[in-house]
Amino acid sequence: MIRVLPELLSPETVLQAQQLLAGLAESDWADGRDSAGSQARQVKTNLQLPHEHPAAVQIRSWVLAGLDQSAGFFSAALPLKVFTPRVNRYTPEFPHYGLHIDNAIRLRADGERVRTDLSCTVFLNDPDAYDGGELVAQDHETSHRVKLPAGHAVLYPGNTLHEVTPVTRGQRLACFFWVESMVRSDEQRRLLFDLDMNLLQLREQLGETAETTALTGLYHNLLRQWART
Ligand code: NI
Repeated sequence: MIRVLPELLSPETVLQAQQLLAGLAESDWADGRDSAGSQARQVKTNLQLPHEHPAAVQIRSWVLAGLDQSAGFFSAALPLKVFTPRVNRYTPEFPHYGLHIDNAIRLRADGERVRTDLSCTVFLNDPDAYDGGELVAQDHETSHRVKLPAGHAVLYPGNTLHEVTPVTRGQRLACFFWVESMVRSDEQRRLLFDLDMNLLQLREQLGETAETTALTGLYHNLLRQWART
């Protein structure tokens, strides 16, 4: 399932992030192949900030704070661990990331392994600032093309083929990371998300009823069956 998380970052935070990135020198950016697996590095041509770069540290903390505030992120991802968010950049000189599947396991700097059940991209500049640069992700038989306003994020299953199409004008700035979910199965996660969202609607329409209480219990009993913590 592919989900959009609107305004994960506020417009003010997006502006601060853009100003930070605009002040960087070309030499601050590193080759994106540093973090790719052996198949992926053959099709990857982009730039990334090193994890320890001050701008990367600052933007990462804004993104992690945004995730903490986002009920939609929690409901859709049921996160157990988040891999260190990274800032990347595509330009006509470093234009794209061809079709690949991300490595299943990532080793975080603190020694923790993170299974990449979900991928997330947070767009840091607006779609009209660049041509191309669409994230194309396969969801079963359907191919989704995603290019969102700055501050919006997209969450998609880690087990899918995906690519970023070549940027032919301007630059595409984004932050991306992986999530290990408490619920490994994309299908089970989708069922829980649908139940949760419908319950939310029911409660808005009817208030708390015996049925919403029972269905909320059902949600938690399914989560108890399926979650690993
Ligand atoms: Ni990828």
